[in-house]
Amino acid sequence: MIVYFNGNYLPLDDVKISPYDRGFQFADGVYETLRTYNGKLFRFDSHLKRLKYSLNELNINFEQFNEIEKISYELAEINNLHKKEFSTYIQITRGVQFPRKHNFENHLSPSVFVSVSELIDNRQQVEKGVKVILEKDIRWLRCDIKSISILPSVLAKTKAVSFNAYETVFYRDNFITEGSHTNFFAVRNDIIYTAPVSNFILEGVTREVVIELCFLNNLKVVEDYIKVDELKTFNEFFITGTTTEVTPVIQLNDRIVGDGIPGKVTKLIQNIFYEYVKSV
Ligand code: PDD
Repeated sequence: MIVYFNGNYLPLDDVKISPYDRGFQFADGVYETLRTYNGKLFRFDSHLKRLKYSLNELNINFEQFNEIEKISYELAEINNLHKKEFSTYIQITRGVQFPRKHNFENHLSPSVFVSVSELIDNRQQVEKGVKVILEKDIRWLRCDIKSISILPSVLAKTKAVSFNAYETVFYRDNFITEGSHTNFFAVRNDIIYTAPVSNFILEGVTREVVIELCFLNNLKVVEDYIKVDELKTFNEFFITGTTTEVTPVIQLNDRIVGDGIPGKVTKLIQNIFYEYVKSV
């Protein structure tokens, strides 16, 4: 596999990263995961905007935004994925700083890593719906930044998998925030609810698309917190994300949602989403 690292296209095994890279020592960096539909990077501009935001919030000096798109397509070509759907992972850390110290210097040059991989179509698997578990949100208070410092999410997702679940959905006090790598939606009386944009969630690109598509299809979306003690009053749930797309939730902890099959509003949104991405 050929990857991109700091200006070079090279075999994965030839990438050399310093142990003094602040990404390695402090998880001092940001990332983005994108995917293609019809061979085209989906909502590239939204991902780029979020990448710029994350870098800016952390004062990481990175300027070569114009190159990212080109690098992704070149990597796809080199790795013979250009005729397939692929995902792109971009990671930018603050760079190398020696000796180790917590406070960062301003002149560092960021380390940039990009890789692509083939997207495995998991629609059949997720179309029938997934189980999620609930966990206390122990993440930091800047979940709006797509930082690589995501150990709480890593632990939460691992726990989900150990419970045969697809995702862990977090709550803070009585409020559902989001999943470990997805945004969370609930439906009650045909109205769709999801947490508002704030420092408690990542503003998902798929979330944005779903809200847009709901608006265009006269489905009402309310950006307000779903309360843990009101979960029983909702009859459908779903999660969204770049690779998760729109995935129905049919089990929440021990509760079988609906009849254990995707709800009708969720199905409708999922189909609208599938139709939309066919056309982009
Ligand atoms: N995760 N919330 C969190 C905490 C996420 O990490 C993600 C994305 C999302 C959904 O965002 P989007 O729709 O832009 O993919 C919400 C990516 C896929 C990842 O961790 O690789």
